[in-house]
Amino acid sequence: MEAFLIKGGRPLKGKVGVSGAKNAVLPLMAAALLTHEPCTLEGVPHLRDVRTMTALLKALGAQVKREGERITIHTSPSSAWEAPYNLVKTMRASILVLGPMVGRLCKAKISLPGGCAIGVRPIDLHLKALEKLGANISLEEGYVVATCPRLKGNTVYFDKVTVTGTENILMASVLAQGDTILENCAKEPEVQELAQVLRAMGASIKGEGTDTIRIHGIEELKGYHHRVMPDRIETATLLIAGAITGGEIEIEGVIPQHVEAVTQKLREAGVDLQVERERIKVKGHNRPRAVDVTTLPYPGFPTDVQAQFMALMTLAQGTSVITEKIFENRFLHAAELQRMGAQIKVEGNKAIVKGVEGLKGAPVMATDLRASASLVLAALAAQGTTWISRIYHLDRGYERLDEKLAPLGAHIERVKEKP
Ligand code: UD1
Repeated sequence: MEAFLIKGGRPLKGKVGVSGAKNAVLPLMAAALLTHEPCTLEGVPHLRDVRTMTALLKALGAQVKREGERITIHTSPSSAWEAPYNLVKTMRASILVLGPMVGRLCKAKISLPGGCAIGVRPIDLHLKALEKLGANISLEEGYVVATCPRLKGNTVYFDKVTVTGTENILMASVLAQGDTILENCAKEPEVQELAQVLRAMGASIKGEGTDTIRIHGIEELKGYHHRVMPDRIETATLLIAGAITGGEIEIEGVIPQHVEAVTQKLREAGVDLQVERERIKVKGHNRPRAVDVTTLPYPGFPTDVQAQFMALMTLAQGTSVITEKIFENRFLHAAELQRMGAQIKVEGNKAIVKGVEGLKGAPVMATDLRASASLVLAALAAQGTTWISRIYHLDRGYERLDEKLAPLGAHIERVKEKP
């Protein structure tokens, strides 16, 4: 296992580019199961989750070829239909193959995704929606088994806004018989991009980016060739890196509209931002102002940036309240930040963060993907050396973050974990 060794207290300076969006790539890779034609994705980041999805598609009989930032996926007509436990357990987003498999093959057997550090994260809404489209679902020895004749269009209301749930059922319904109406849908840019790509494959879809998506099922889909959008969570993380170190950096190749909820909060906190068409310049000052944040589905403040924003607020002038409304147990980073001198009190789904003048380096442990990013940010700002263990969590969703931060002046080293 690897760890980061970070010597903090240096303002970051320079230009940095953003990689392709993990949460867009994973559903798009799964969508390749909907056609027997080849599908090509450009701008695919080198991430552990992408490798897991690649292995999963291969286990399902697809050929997956990677050349640099391009991935080509070709699903054979006689695909396997079982997604094994050893792959699914390492990545919850594996559930994204369920919709396309049931949609095209009319059968799927997928291991139930395991528990997850940030909460229970059930898949009941995915299964309920598939049943509404006519699938028979049973649970057998830890596996979800779904079978059907051909799926049939229907109206599906999601009790809760779910990102992968919306994506899964969207993919299942494009090949269903008749019309499907999905209500209370997720509006995330990644859901919108999936709908656009499915349309390029020949699907008939209207309303992505709103609460209601309407799909008219068709018989067959073509392949696609698509460049994936920039990662908005990485963009936000880099913005906070500039702000928290009192640095001055330019983040290139971004879609500013996707991070508006974050840039608005950063401005409230007194961070200087200059937003252009595809770049954002950020300039941090001594200590930010304390601002309150509540996570919500898009276009609200993303839960995936909550931990990173908390790192910034640990150094604020005043006290901020961070309310987590998406996942029930997403404050595991608070205890680690406290080891570096932060003052945080967690009460239910609220974290009360009393800003301190400075953080001090300490040995800390990454507990989940975005929590790891918050520890990196805190370490960049802290005086002294921070040792962050278990950074495999970070490598799931950030492409070579250490190699992006080092040219900006960060002292960050990837080392072997202490025994
Ligand atoms: C996706 C993102 C993840 C992000 C999250 C919220 C991907 C691959 N992952 O995860 O990075 O943090 O959206 O923006 O895109 N829920 C149920 N039953 C279900 C499904 C969800 O109760 O069947 C609940 C969840 O426990 C959670 C809420 O709904 O409380 C939202 O979760 P959801 O949007 O489904 O998250 P993911 O799609 O797993």
